[in-house]
Amino acid sequence: MDKLVIHGGLPLHGTVRASGAKNAALPILIATLLAPGEHVLDNVPELADVSLTLSLLGRIGCPSLVPDDGGSRVRLDTWRIAFSEAPYDVVRKMRASVLALGPLLARQGQARVSLPGGCAIGVRPVDQHLKGLEALGCRFELSGGYVNGRVDHLRGGEVRFDMPTVTGTENVMMAAVLADGVSVLHNAAREPEVVDLARFLRAMGARIEGEGTDTITVDGVPALRPTRTPYSIMPDRIEAGTYLVAGAITGGAVTVERAPVHALAPVLDALRAAGCEVSADGVGPDGAGRIHLRREGPLAPVSIETQPHPGFPTDMQAQWMALMSLAEGDSVIRETIFENRFMHAAELMRMGARIEPDRDRAVVRGVRRLEGATVMATDLRASASLVLAGLAAHGSTEMLRLYHLDRGYERLEAKLAALGARVRRVPDDVRVVRVVEPDEDRAAG
Ligand code: EPU
Repeated sequence: MDKLVIHGGLPLHGTVRASGAKNAALPILIATLLAPGEHVLDNVPELADVSLTLSLLGRIGCPSLVPDDGGSRVRLDTWRIAFSEAPYDVVRKMRASVLALGPLLARQGQARVSLPGGCAIGVRPVDQHLKGLEALGCRFELSGGYVNGRVDHLRGGEVRFDMPTVTGTENVMMAAVLADGVSVLHNAAREPEVVDLARFLRAMGARIEGEGTDTITVDGVPALRPTRTPYSIMPDRIEAGTYLVAGAITGGAVTVERAPVHALAPVLDALRAAGCEVSADGVGPDGAGRIHLRREGPLAPVSIETQPHPGFPTDMQAQWMALMSLAEGDSVIRETIFENRFMHAAELMRMGARIEPDRDRAVVRGVRRLEGATVMATDLRASASLVLAGLAAHGSTEMLRLYHLDRGYERLEAKLAALGARVRRVPDDVRVVRVVEPDEDRAAG
């Protein structure tokens, strides 16, 4: 297994380009199941989770063609569905596989999807997905760790989610596009990735309104067709935000190109409050543009509370904690989305951070410097926060369990190197007896 070695303490300077968004690419790839035919998608990031999604589609009977030159265009053939199943060995590695439920039920009238169970960042049930699909006429039974779903007549229905759920909203929206009649999704997730999925579905002929608000209306159509022109996945706001924090934490100047400027507003506001100069230009009609960040003065402490979009994203909370551990003063970080998402705190403390986690709150008492250490990644965004801390720390940091990062950050070392960071991926050749922990390969993304 590889590890990442970071020699910290260098201010980062330069420009990187945001890749396609993981959390938009996964549902959009799966949504191709709704329209039999050949699909072409652009700006698909090269990530472990994307490969897993393509292998899931392959298992269902839909082969894909991925360029071997590092390009981002993916071709998929969804003419034939051979198996309506997302098996345990895929779902346990990637929770997002549960997104196959809605499209399979809509196209095949049946689906068998392994229950994802818990993961490193919490229990994360799928009751809202099932409740929403039931409102459209689907029936479920649970057996042997699987959800077995059937529907004879998929019909429009009224769904009121108990909380805004991103993949829950996506799953129900994907089924509703082929239902007979109108569906209304209340308390829907407003995340930009939900909006990107709605746009893709519309490009295939779906009738959807209200995406980006908490009420989405879907008027079902009898059939969808693949888009005529390649659909380009939106850029990744969390990846872009992570590089901006890299500039901030090292006291450098970073530009992120093709960044989703509006989708990042809460993070940009927090960075400004922390004393960074932040500006954007070249914003196109798709909302993507260049974001410039520079920090010269001290870092001011800024408390944040994670909230569904348009609040501060939970997927930036760990990175924010790394940044605040070097602020001049105390801040409070409150995590309201997931109940177990402070596991990076203990690793940051091993690097000299002073953090007092208590249930859903953590008080971060800024320190003057962090020291490099060997640290262990526990989930994707926790890994990102440790990389950021390593970039700012004195000495070198070794981060183990690099595979978490490969799930969500495309060519991370190359992009950091382009900003002047000294970071290397090396095989972890230390011979250890490997203790398999229960959560180790549970997927968090
Ligand atoms: N929830 C339920 N029941 C449900 C669904 C959700 O109780 O049926 C709860 C969850 O336990 C959580 C809250 O609702 O407390 C919100 O979870 P949500 O369903 O929105 O999360 P998700 O759809 O499983 C997506 C992203 C996550 C991101 C969250 C929140 C994808 C593939 N994953 O997960 O991304 O943190 O939304 O924005 O879109 C990551 O990229 O690192 C990652 C974890």
